[in-house]
Amino acid sequence: MGKEVVLGIESTAHTFSFGIVDSSGAPGPSCSAFLRPKEGGIHPREAADHHAENSPIILNDWLENNELEPGDIGAIAYSQGPGLAPCLRVGASVARALSTRLDIPLVGVNHCVAHIEIGRERCGCDDPVLLYVSGGNTQVIARLGNRYRVLGETLDIGIGNMLDKFARDNGMPFPGGPKIEAKAKEWLQENPDASLEGLELPYAVHGMDLTFSGLLTAAKGLVDRGAPLGAVCWSLQEHAFAACIEVAERALAHTGKKEILLGGGVACNQRLCEMSSIMASERGCSSHVPEKMYCVDNGSMIARLGWMQLNHAGPTSLENSAVDQLLRTDQTDICWP
Ligand code: ATP
Ligand code: FE2
Repeated sequence: MGKEVVLGIESTAHTFSFGIVDSSGAPGPSCSAFLRPKEGGIHPREAADHHAENSPIILNDWLENNELEPGDIGAIAYSQGPGLAPCLRVGASVARALSTRLDIPLVGVNHCVAHIEIGRERCGCDDPVLLYVSGGNTQVIARLGNRYRVLGETLDIGIGNMLDKFARDNGMPFPGGPKIEAKAKEWLQENPDASLEGLELPYAVHGMDLTFSGLLTAAKGLVDRGAPLGAVCWSLQEHAFAACIEVAERALAHTGKKEILLGGGVACNQRLCEMSSIMASERGCSSHVPEKMYCVDNGSMIARLGWMQLNHAGPTSLENSAVDQLLRTDQTDICWP
């Protein structure tokens, strides 16, 4: 690969990752380090220390895996927000240092928009409604003019955090989403005629918005009253995912768009993908989900969005390179077709 490759740095939360796009904007695999706390949730300072320690190791792996020298890198992209401030600052510092040292452009990108654009690239979508479901974020998004508008979102916690918390409270370590998925599947295999009777959870849809803390409390209550853990995992998935799909379906109806695109770590879940496919085919629409390595946080999606911004808007100046932990999806100008 030539001088035009873009290095992307992801550091919003538990994942520190370097990724790549080539000169045509095509992404390759990322090199990542994941913080896996032994107990409890993620502590921002601890995560930032993890990222700082791993940065040189991951950079070397990334260069080796891609058979590159530092001089082959044409630009550096990094997540400017949203995320945990200490973690974001590590990524931004590494990006600024490399940009200055190698004398190449720096480009700060919006992490949420990066999830959307990598999905569009991987799935060949044109103008989708995005269901963005990760640890910290749950949003239904559609492009209107030069912004990605948030049409609906969680009013409390992200769906992934809700799953992780339920899992943790029931002895399953972070990340809990995949473990809940496995338990639910196992339960269904053992109980093919299972019914949700007695396993009902609150309705999470509020207009175009969602809430998940009520589901979490009610699911804990079911376990406390003796319901089998597998059954509650299944019910939790059915209720939480149905709520997300319902809001996404309304967004399709309101906007008249014909594609639904899933993104974020929770989009790795097969049951969620299945529900989305069923809804889409009933409406004459198509449902898309990128490969798992592009659903979870990864440096290549940052490189991809950096490459797009460089081509259409130019680099980020040092004065404008500060991180913004509260950066919103609809704050970023979308200046490409
Ligand atoms: P963001 O900063 O965008 O909020 P994030 O920090 O949460 O992202 P991601 O890698 O996008 O990071 O998502 C991680 C989440 O995805 C975790 O909550 C994890 O439990 C969840 N997850 C991963 N795989 C699955 C799965 N198969 N089923 C359900 N949830 C999953
Ligand atoms: Fe993410």
